[in-house]
Amino acid sequence: MNKKNIHYKVRLRPINLKRDMSKMLKWYSNKEVLYYSEGHTTPYNEKIIIKMYNSITKDGHQKVIKRMHDSITENGHMYIIEILSNKRWLSVGDASFTRTSTPITIGIPEYWGKGIGSQALGLLIKKAKRYQWKELKISGIANYNKRSIRMYKNAGFKVTNKNKKEVKLILRL
Ligand SMILES: CC(C)(COP(=O)(O)OP(=O)(O)OC[C@H]1O[C@@H](n2cnc3c(N)ncnc32)[C@H](O)[C@@H]1OP(=O)(O)O)[C@@H](O)C(=O)NCCC(=O)NCCS
Repeated sequence: MNKKNIHYKVRLRPINLKRDMSKMLKWYSNKEVLYYSEGHTTPYNEKIIIKMYNSITKDGHQKVIKRMHDSITENGHMYIIEILSNKRWLSVGDASFTRTSTPITIGIPEYWGKGIGSQALGLLIKKAKRYQWKELKISGIANYNKRSIRMYKNAGFKVTNKNKKEVKLILRL
């Protein structure tokens, strides 16, 4: 792995669903990306991506608009991961946190194993601490997804459940 030789500058920016849709459709059409991130290889369409976005950023049970503070601390956030490449910020994946999960997907396999996911996770942890969340969880990582499990464990996540298919981890903040 050439990770040690390359150190990308990584940032998270709020997703702009309209602007980012075409990139996401590309990421979530890649069978290798889907296999690791979703556990299947059926490409996503626009409808599924909007559903994914809504499930992360909106509280489906709560129609009443809450105060700003509540929305920041209780609802989830979805970001685009960007890396600095040739002096330009390049979108390479998405990262989210909600009360129940902290999924990260780098949608371009050539950027895997270069420390980008670990940096993105570090930024999510910082944000969660700023919002005074007490814990972060990740559920449903396929047991075969060793890279992902390693990334979460390296950040301090501990396994809470493991079955034949998948593993769940938690980080107490
Ligand atoms: C999982 C994912 C976010 C990790 O991000 P990444 O930038 O590729 O990972 P990092 O480079 O930060 O590496 C994480 C750790 O895994 C290790 N690793 C890398 N490739 C590995 C492999 N094939 N097997 C086992 N460990 C591996 C790295 O060495 C590193 O550990 P170390 O720092 O102790 O050496 C990214 O690979 C990805 O998006 N994969 C496809 C979608 C996915 O699996 N999403 C997660 C769903 S829960």
